[in-house]
Amino acid sequence: MTRDQRPIPPAPLLETRGLSKAFRGLVALNGHAITVWERDIVGVIGPNGSGKSTLFNVVTGFLKPTAGKVLLRGVPISGRPPAQVSRLGIARTFQGTRLFGQLSVLDNVLVAAQLRHPTSLPGAVLNTAGSRAARRAAADTAHELLALMGLEQRAGQRAASLPYGDGRRLEIARALATRPALLMLDEPAAGLNSGETRALATLIGEVRDRYGVAVIVIEHDMDLVMTLCERVQVLAQGAVIGEGTPAEIQASPRVRNAYLGSESDDAA
Ligand SMILES: Nc1ncnc2c1ncn2[C@@H]1O[C@H](COP(=O)(O)OP(=O)(O)OP(=O)(O)O)[C@@H](O)[C@H]1O
Ligand SMILES: [Mg+2]
Repeated sequence: MTRDQRPIPPAPLLETRGLSKAFRGLVALNGHAITVWERDIVGVIGPNGSGKSTLFNVVTGFLKPTAGKVLLRGVPISGRPPAQVSRLGIARTFQGTRLFGQLSVLDNVLVAAQLRHPTSLPGAVLNTAGSRAARRAAADTAHELLALMGLEQRAGQRAASLPYGDGRRLEIARALATRPALLMLDEPAAGLNSGETRALATLIGEVRDRYGVAVIVIEHDMDLVMTLCERVQVLAQGAVIGEGTPAEIQASPRVRNAYLGSESDDAA
C-alpha cells in the first residue's frame, strides 16, 4: 500500500495537551493531558481545589488557558468563547445549579434546544414553514429529554420550585438539548442521597447508550465513579497523578496517598 492509501486514523473526540491555567500566582491546572474517544465515560476525581472545575472551564471556553491546547476531533478550539464551543458539540453542567429559575422546566430545555434548531429573526416574524419546523423540532427534543429525565410531569412548573434532585436532572436535560458529542458533568450527584445517586449513574449510562455521547464526569461520590466510569483520571494540585480503570485507580498507592487515603483505609 502506498503512503497515500493508508487510512487516516480517527482523531480522538477530545484531547488536551499541556493544558495549564494560572490565576495570578496560583497554578490551578498544570500541564493537563487527556484523550477521550466517542462514547467514552471518563471520571475525573481529585481533592478539593485540585483543578477539576478549572479543567472544565478551560475546555468549555469559560476560561482561557495560560498554556496548552484543547483539540476537538483534532481541531484546536482553545480560547473560543463558550457559545462557540457549545455549537461545536461540547455541553456542560456547573458545580452549582444554574437554571433559569423563573422560567418553566420546559422553557429551560427549549432555550437550549433552540440553539440547535435556530430560527432566523425574519423567519420567526413571518412565521415561515422553516421556522415552524425548527420550533417543532426544538419542542420535540425538549419533551423527549424531559421524559427521559422523569420530568415531563413538571414541564409547566417554574424551575426554581423543583426539588433539588429534579433540578440537577433538568440541568442535564438542558445540556443534552444542544445535542452534544461530549457531555461534561461537574459533580452531578452533589447533594443527592445514595438512592438518587445510584439512579443518576444508571441514567447517565442510558444517556450515553441512547445518544452516543461521550461523558466526562467530575464526582466526589466514589460509588458513582467506580460503577459508571470506564476510565478514571486523578488530579492533585492541577496535575494528573493517575489514570486507569476504576480498579487500577483504587489499587494505586500514589492515588491512595493523595486522595483516597482515609477512605480506602476505612474500606480495608
Ligand atoms: N476564577 C478563579 N480565580 C482565582 N482562583 C481560582 C478561580 N477558579 C479556581 N481558582 C482556584 O484554583 C484552584 C482549583 O480550583 P477548582 O475549582 O478547579 O478545583 P476543584 O478541583 O474543582 O475543587 P472542588 O472539588 O472543591 O470543586 C483552587 O485553588 C481555586 O481556589
Ligand atoms: Mg469543582
